[in-house]
Amino acid sequence: ASDPRIPAIQSRIRVVPDFPKPGIMFQDITTLLLDPKAFKDTIDLFIERYQGKNISVVAGIEARGFVFGPPIALAIGAKFVPLRKPGKLPGEIISEDYTLEYGKDCLQMHVGAVKPMERALVVDDLIATGGTLCAAMNLIERAGAEVVECVCVIELPDLKGRERLKGKPLFVLLEAH
Ligand code: PRP
Repeated sequence: ASDPRIPAIQSRIRVVPDFPKPGIMFQDITTLLLDPKAFKDTIDLFIERYQGKNISVVAGIEARGFVFGPPIALAIGAKFVPLRKPGKLPGEIISEDYTLEYGKDCLQMHVGAVKPMERALVVDDLIATGGTLCAAMNLIERAGAEVVECVCVIELPDLKGRERLKGKPLFVLLEAH
């Protein structure tokens, strides 16, 4: 059963056709952030799911995972670890290349940010092909930690990204087509 807060959250996400490229229906979460009640409900739904689950790491994917990840981390008493695009992190890093719905990219994580045996969530705004989340999971697992679940606001289920998540569960609030 879907939560009664979800329709209002969905109504705040703006869909922009042909951005950033022709054929892409861009799911714009900046309009959700303009509504404090809907933004708070979004974060609360995640907190309610992960509170008391012994999660010590919330890893957020640049850029929009940096919006949703930190409030979850603070509320559940976990650390926040940014997974960044290349060339942004100043310390020693590990890297994972991946292919995107519209291009090619790489995610990097600081060595030592995540310790062996830690229990981690990976957070982003949206899963499309799943390539980004898969690269993020690989970084966490290379550090010896466990990905408990991947967490997104929006899933594009037609792209079957869920199947690329190495058998790990994915929790999303809503689907878009
Ligand atoms: C979008 C989105 C996810 C990724 C999902 O990011 O925020 O991170 O694409 O796509 P995938 O499931 O096919 O891998 P984007 O590439 O627009 O980068 P940005 O957040 O830095 O703008």
